[in-house]
Amino acid sequence: MTGAAGSAAYDRGVRDPTPAELELYAAARAAAAGAYVPYSGFAVGAALRTASDAVITGVNIENASYGLTCCAERTAMFAAVAAGEREFTAIAVHGDAASVPPCGACRQVLAEFAPGLVVVYRQDGAPVAAELDELLPARFQL
Ligand code: THU
Repeated sequence: MTGAAGSAAYDRGVRDPTPAELELYAAARAAAAGAYVPYSGFAVGAALRTASDAVITGVNIENASYGLTCCAERTAMFAAVAAGEREFTAIAVHGDAASVPPCGACRQVLAEFAPGLVVVYRQDGAPVAAELDELLPARFQL
């Protein structure tokens, strides 16, 4: 899937994932099977690791009024926060396209709880890791 801006990879701070990060990525990939995507057919899974080493997953949940769709990263974060979690170390996201970095809205939501979060996502067909600070250098803050 290629957007209007083309497919040039943003690679500042991007590195190969560690074995533990690849494990989290595998959890995101498995979670994608539970996505509710009757409109786009594009299933996304996310797996969020808490500071206490628990893994909480999320999927994209679409809606007939398209704009109310919630991305996998946000459903994972909202489920985790609703369960009482507040500290996170990493999130992985998987969708079946060559490059699936988290969208801008999700970056802002993730940064609310974990500006230093490691983000594992697919770029040019392979998982990579980067810090959220690099992906969203000037988040909105109050
Ligand atoms: N989507 C996500 O779940 N996460 C992202 O980071 C980007 C997009 C979902 C939203 C929608 O259901 C589908 O992918 C197509 O945009």
